[in-house]
Amino acid sequence: MSLNFIQKVTTLPRVVVVTGAASGIGLATARSLAKLGCAVSLADLDLKKLDVAASTIKAETPEARILTTALDIRDRPGVARWIADTETKLGKISGSFNAAGVANAAHTLKPLTETADEEWDLAIGVNLTGTMNCVKEQVRAMKASGSEGSIVVVASIAGLIGTENGSAYTAAKFGTVGLIRSVARETARLGIRVTGIAPATVMTPMTKDSFENGHFLKQVLAATPAGRLAEPEEVADLGIFLLSGASSYISGSTHTLDGALLA
Ligand SMILES: NC(=O)c1ccc[n+]([C@@H]2O[C@H](COP(=O)([O-])OP(=O)(O)OC[C@H]3O[C@@H](n4cnc5c(N)ncnc54)[C@H](O)[C@@H]3O)[C@@H](O)[C@H]2O)c1
Repeated sequence: MSLNFIQKVTTLPRVVVVTGAASGIGLATARSLAKLGCAVSLADLDLKKLDVAASTIKAETPEARILTTALDIRDRPGVARWIADTETKLGKISGSFNAAGVANAAHTLKPLTETADEEWDLAIGVNLTGTMNCVKEQVRAMKASGSEGSIVVVASIAGLIGTENGSAYTAAKFGTVGLIRSVARETARLGIRVTGIAPATVMTPMTKDSFENGHFLKQVLAATPAGRLAEPEEVADLGIFLLSGASSYISGSTHTLDGALLA
């Protein structure tokens, strides 16, 4: 590994907004970003969980600059206020990590014919429309300040292949992959890159419940060539790379992180 690469990979946006920051992949990424010197603006549904997240980051990185905001990403005016408030308090944003999402826990996996309208609306509303709200406001902010930047979205392997009994989540994640590809084309000449991460199963609070049913965990492990689940920090590492100067010509693509599951 050349020193040049190390310099590039540690060239990061000064201010990064993170959704889903109170838990799992979003939290792991916010922790890494803070350690690397980025100011982080953390958004999630619940302020108490965010306070715990902020304390964890402060304990590891006492000098970290952190803003916490309770936000439902389905609320577009709320998303716009969050971005504006971040710019006032922390400075212009040039990076984002969009991890907020809701999944199919094992007990909610069901065929389309049994999927209630509310379940469909939740999966699409948060994972696709909510993510779009965030990306839209992030692009607007970067354009307004003339900042080059990097926008990272956590999609899923369920955005790249069909899944049985998870059509709402899968349709939403396919939508995010389309969003990434389209917005990347719209913003490339401005120096704004848009990329996605498509993890297979990652050990986070989202999946923990599903694995209380040991049979489901065994099935997932048997299907995964690497024979283990991913850790949230492994997703964070890819996120850092995609936010950094080391990925300066990568845009529009969604990168699997799946222990060879889709190979
Ligand atoms: N864990 C996995 O196996 C896995 C696999 C592939 C993709 N993903 C994706 O990774 C992302 C992060 O998942 P995770 O595993 O860290 O889950 P997690 O449940 O640990 O974290 C998700 C966070 O998003 C927040 N959130 C949910 N709805 C929200 C809303 N409307 N507005 C704001 N915040 C909201 C939750 O409160 C939670 O803190 C999700 O987009 C998920 O779909 C996860």
